[in-house]
Amino acid sequence: MTTKTRLYSGMQPSAESLQIGNYIGALLNWKALQETHDAFFSIVDLHALTVPQDPALLAANTRRTAAQYIAAGIDPASSTLYVQSHVPAHAELAWLLNTITGFGEASRMTQFKDKSARHGAEATTVGLFAYPVLMAADILLYDTEIVPVGEDQRQHVELTRDLATRFNARFGETFVVPEASIVRETAKIYDLQNPTAKMSKSAESHAGVLWMLDEPSVTAKKIMRAVTDAEGGVVFDRENKPGVANLLTIYSSITGRTIASLEDEYAGRGYGDFKKGLAEVVTGTFGPVRQRVIEMLDDPAELDRTLAANADRAAAVAGETLARAYDRVGLLRGRTR
Ligand code: TYM
Repeated sequence: MTTKTRLYSGMQPSAESLQIGNYIGALLNWKALQETHDAFFSIVDLHALTVPQDPALLAANTRRTAAQYIAAGIDPASSTLYVQSHVPAHAELAWLLNTITGFGEASRMTQFKDKSARHGAEATTVGLFAYPVLMAADILLYDTEIVPVGEDQRQHVELTRDLATRFNARFGETFVVPEASIVRETAKIYDLQNPTAKMSKSAESHAGVLWMLDEPSVTAKKIMRAVTDAEGGVVFDRENKPGVANLLTIYSSITGRTIASLEDEYAGRGYGDFKKGLAEVVTGTFGPVRQRVIEMLDDPAELDRTLAANADRAAAVAGETLARAYDRVGLLRGRTR
């Protein structure tokens, strides 16, 4: 029996590569937390389906995302790293939670509002609307105490807390009420071309998105072209120098150095020098990760075996929680299986 605190998080396999915001806002954090927590990390392929996906690409991107988790330092022997759809309990619990979620409550989710405004009413699916409820099911199935995410997921974790509390009040103590864990400094990495907008896998232009699997020369070029300001000076000022502040955040999180020490190092030097230093640091980190991903994808059978074994581990925990929830609401299956 483990006495470690239970932790859960996930990412969508919605692009061929993760972007550096996923790495800094999530993976780096996960990597550190997995040492001291009982960690579950999923690749949420059911969530990815809430917007149109090419089937062959979705399958490929699911493996690529798993390989990136491992190459970036998630250890599938000590953490449970699995694919969401391999554990049917997620879809099953999501249905139960749908029945206690208010229409108005789900309509207030800002990510839903943004995405549905982008797609238009006809192209917006019920799946997209129910996305946060499926996310709540992910978290609650594992008696999760801590959910490490970026700022954009805070509202979804709040909804999860509300649903857990509501279910417990209505049907008796069933779910652990989780807490979001958000590292303030790195909770939001911005687009290099538009440093007031979040860097995102679904950005319309890729010029300001640093992909983990980009060729090092492409990464370096994107950094050299990052938007800064006319003022000069490598100083952290989020309000007036959002471009430089973002680059400093990236530099600091990847190297573990403080912003102040970076400001000192680059005092009196131009943006060109600073960007060159950053490009070296980023390509130095992602170069080996990229190499490792390429190697892993060369042997997909081995990767698939790892994912299958981890899904079994996840299903054992999730199955117990689902049975408990079914029993509480009066579904016979909870009592007979
Ligand atoms: P997703 O795939 O959009 O993003 C994965 C993680 O990366 C963080 N992130 C960022 N952090 C800082 N700066 C950025 N620019 C940036 N972009 C993304 C996200 O906050 C997230 O932590 N709904 C989730 C996936 C999910 C999940 C879950 C998470 C499904 N079920 C259960 C936690 C627990 C999502 O779309 O993440």
